[in-house]
Amino acid sequence: MRAHEAGWAHAVVSVRGPSWLREPEDPNVLVPQLWSSTARKRDDGVLEVGGVALTDLVAEHGSPAYVLDEADFRSRARAFHEAFAAYDVYYAGKAFLCSTVARWVADEGLCLDVCSTGELAVALRAGFDPARIGYHGNNKTSAELERALDAGVGRIIVDSFHEIERITALASEQRPARVMVRVTAGVEAHTHEYIATAHEDQKFGFSITAGDALEAVRLLHAAPGVELLGLHSHIGSQIFDTAGFEVAARRVLALHAQISGEIGVELADLDLGGGFGIAYTTQDDPSDAAQLATEITKIVEDECAARDLAVPRLSIEPGRAIAGPAMCTVYEVGTVKAVELDGGAVRTYVSVDGGMSDNIRTALYDADYSCTLASRGSEASTLLVRVVGKHCEAGDIVVKDEFLPGDVAPGDLLAVPGTGAYCRSMASNYNHALRPPVVAVADGTTRVVVRRETEDDLLALDVDPDR
Ligand code: LLP
Repeated sequence: MRAHEAGWAHAVVSVRGPSWLREPEDPNVLVPQLWSSTARKRDDGVLEVGGVALTDLVAEHGSPAYVLDEADFRSRARAFHEAFAAYDVYYAGKAFLCSTVARWVADEGLCLDVCSTGELAVALRAGFDPARIGYHGNNKTSAELERALDAGVGRIIVDSFHEIERITALASEQRPARVMVRVTAGVEAHTHEYIATAHEDQKFGFSITAGDALEAVRLLHAAPGVELLGLHSHIGSQIFDTAGFEVAARRVLALHAQISGEIGVELADLDLGGGFGIAYTTQDDPSDAAQLATEITKIVEDECAARDLAVPRLSIEPGRAIAGPAMCTVYEVGTVKAVELDGGAVRTYVSVDGGMSDNIRTALYDADYSCTLASRGSEASTLLVRVVGKHCEAGDIVVKDEFLPGDVAPGDLLAVPGTGAYCRSMASNYNHALRPPVVAVADGTTRVVVRRETEDDLLALDVDPDR
């Protein structure tokens, strides 16, 4: 790779970043807690993940690409399995799912949460044991429910009275439905509004307060062919504080006790959902699986003891906390542009060859990310930049603010950590972008687990009946 001149921007007065963003002493150095466990900078400054230099990975597989650190994914899955040993841990496939990942999840002893027939199809193709699959969704059709029942999924998480009618019509002794009731605990989780799910004014679950949850239990308990396993509560996503889980557990267990008193069934299972936060930037300080297990178990045990209840069989559904940190996205820089703002300060826009089609989270949730120069080291002084994509939209931002070496230039590779959850799974073809591949790395080798889309893939959907 050619050497870069001293930074063009060394005399520029840069716009100020957010107050939490500290200028690093050396922008070449990784902040370890943001990266997967095998990520490291080589002496020449090249970023290596799973023993593979990202320069080599891009030379072989092109850019942009999602880089999936197999050892890291597996070790996070294992950590949840071990820390929550008495629980069933369902990996939430919505974060990221492909056949290979479904197999890793099974290897590591986890169950799987799917929320669509597409995710179910991937899991079944991977040979995932259907009895270890939980099936979610707030608007499952009869056809989808029938498919799930025929596949023999271990549990269906029921979300509405219409779904109860559908399940009841489909279930029979020959084709039993094992179900959980998703309840709304009425908790304000401290996260972005769009990913909070336990306050009353949103589409998921049966309200405890309004009595709907109790009524749903009554109906399902009485329905022939239906086996009611228990209650399910998911309060939201990217949550750091276990206080929300505590309030939810208290309300859900109060309902559990009420069900035992009024309907005479002590439900066997309780699922507390997922939502455990990860570090995207130095602002975030997540708990690890062991800390979460200790805190959550104590919350449930204390609450059960206070109500004289046996502790139900517990399960959780982490997605982001397993997949998120295990991936980074590598992009190539195409242009660098300094834009003078009111007052004379300059914002430097670094455009990369992807954007909101491979990571919608910045635009959709105002999410913060970080990045590093991945293809070389640099002696240039730091420069605050904004990393943007190549889509026709001003909101097409990947990283709002980051300090990079000031000589960042076309041809450089940038890597963004923490893109394993909800980036490839929410990727789009906006502007007819071709979605990047997912390249798994381990022990110095690469394996494509989701291939890059091609123009033929795009054109195959464009039917053009007049031609
Ligand atoms: N269980 C249920 C019922 C869920 O709805 C979800 C996430 C999870 C588990 C897993 O949550 P996690 O552990 O991954 O936080 N697209 C958004 C996140 C949406 C989450 C949807 N449900 C984002 O990019 O932040």
